[in-house]
Amino acid sequence: MNFEIRNAKIVTARGNEAVNDYVLETFTANIHISNGCIVAIDEQIRGVDFFDASGLIALPGFVDPHTHIPFVGERSKEFIMRSKGIKYADILKAGGGIHSTVDDVRRASVDDLVNAGLKYLGWMLKNGVTSAECKSGYGLDFENEIKQLEAIKIISTLTSQNIVSTFLGAHAIPPKGEKAFFEDLKAMMKEIKEKNLAEFVDVFCDEGAFSVDFSREYLNFAKSLGFKLKAHADELTNNGFAKIASMLGATSVDHLAMCDESEINEMSKNKTIAVLLPLTSFYLKNKFAPAAKIINSGVPVALGSDFNPGSNTFYSPFLTIHLAVNYMGMTTAQAIVAHTLNAACAIGLGERVGSIEPGKRADILLLDVPSIDYIPYMPTNEIIRAIFLNGEFFENRNSLSGKNKK
Ligand code: NIG
Ligand code: FE
Repeated sequence: MNFEIRNAKIVTARGNEAVNDYVLETFTANIHISNGCIVAIDEQIRGVDFFDASGLIALPGFVDPHTHIPFVGERSKEFIMRSKGIKYADILKAGGGIHSTVDDVRRASVDDLVNAGLKYLGWMLKNGVTSAECKSGYGLDFENEIKQLEAIKIISTLTSQNIVSTFLGAHAIPPKGEKAFFEDLKAMMKEIKEKNLAEFVDVFCDEGAFSVDFSREYLNFAKSLGFKLKAHADELTNNGFAKIASMLGATSVDHLAMCDESEINEMSKNKTIAVLLPLTSFYLKNKFAPAAKIINSGVPVALGSDFNPGSNTFYSPFLTIHLAVNYMGMTTAQAIVAHTLNAACAIGLGERVGSIEPGKRADILLLDVPSIDYIPYMPTNEIIRAIFLNGEFFENRNSLSGKNKK
């Protein structure tokens, strides 16, 4: 299937690797698509089916490098408790929070998880998310962690979005304690490797969650099995684990709201990607990560949602970019690169998505806005005029100002 997007004002980063120069190229051209892939970008007209994108901005599809899909159930009562001042970590320590979603996920079937996951990914797609990371972490035992990862595998065959799978068995400490749980986690990791159910291993190292010593050993074990590494670090408190995870070679360290300079320096030495999740800071009424400081130290920054039933239920890249620009001192260009190319690299997809270039998948958003500053300025998905997902065309007629351009 050949297709052309004509006269698009293309705004994109370039390359397959995370960058910290945040340069967006802007030029008008025709994008030629064949079998879901961008094959050429030039001035030519090839006489195939086309979409006239005159007056529209073409952006690479957003990549969400950190979600907690798939989950079932809800925690609205906990949200109301927090709105009255009770802390996230205190609810977790008292056996609520993540543990309450674990109860729901253990009762759910693989089909329940697949259906819920597809529902949320569908919401994300309408917001321009064409690739996403999905995690386990609501099973916390062999059977249910594997169940979650199997659900992710099925989800990835049922959506055209690119899905990357992460094992987050070390998400909350079960009653048996972290030491005894380590043995279970090792068995899970071996099984997951054998069945190829996850590419990354992640850990929640924080107050009320896993200790620094445990998290170091756990990631080391994951590394020895050949997994790529990630960590939830400095989300609620600073315990230095961002530095340790970076030294262990983590692809990304995520959250970083409370990170310090020595951690940032280590990350810049190791080219670790900082995945910042401002929606969670906003939702928990916590500090935002020091994005400008991290960027100025040469660390490539990516942005994601952290969409989950507890610490953040927002999922819009438009709102994330609004917060990044309005509260974290990022420029619009930095935020766009962070939510496209750098986010793709944070989940190992830098060669396939994240920019509009020949050789990459045709995951493209057409935005009906006069400039990219409209993304943080008026952060609604209604500015998306059309989405190309793996070359497949989705139209948003609500954004249509008068005529159908196809
Ligand atoms: O990234 N920090 C740990 N995990 C999630 C929250 C998950 C939950 O509350 O269910 C987070 O904030
Ligand atoms: Fe998270």
